[in-house]
Amino acid sequence: MAIKNVSVNVTINGEERCAEVEPRTLLVHYIRDELGLTGTHIGCDTSQCGACSVLVDGEVVKSCTLLAVQADGTEITTVEGIGQVDRLHPIQQSFWEKHGLQCGYCTPGVMIAAIGLLKQNPNPSDEEIREGLEGVICRCTGYQFIVEAVKHAAQLMKESEKQLVGEEH
Ligand code: FES
Ligand code: FES
Repeated sequence: MAIKNVSVNVTINGEERCAEVEPRTLLVHYIRDELGLTGTHIGCDTSQCGACSVLVDGEVVKSCTLLAVQADGTEITTVEGIGQVDRLHPIQQSFWEKHGLQCGYCTPGVMIAAIGLLKQNPNPSDEEIREGLEGVICRCTGYQFIVEAVKHAAQLMKESEKQLVGEEH
């Protein structure tokens, strides 16, 4: 018996998208293969690497651990949606300035996890950053530049909030 496809609707990076998928389709495959957003990567088959991390309704989620149907009706942000070339997100700016960039494979997940961390804790210590990024793995670094970049991003975000508050008055 053929399995009936299901329709999955999401708002992704501010855009409403819809695709028909098999009920067993993982969110990461839906994002990459159906919606064509290939900045979200698959780095393992054990839910450990975090390369597939996205924000679902503002929470960091490993998109290989969720079925696409479970994300129906949610708001998703992938790495493609966090900034623009001429207007980088503070986390992108900081990774650039503080040399936090690793390879293109792991960095998107690390940046998404860092955004989730800073939302929960806008002023994290080095230790808290390392703990907060435990779910995203790069085998090639000691994470020091990443920690510096996240701290710098926290500072930039504070400054831009101040600017916004200043603009209001
Ligand atoms: S692909 Fe490795 S945690 Fe999702
Ligand atoms: S996995 Fe990307 S640089 Fe290590």
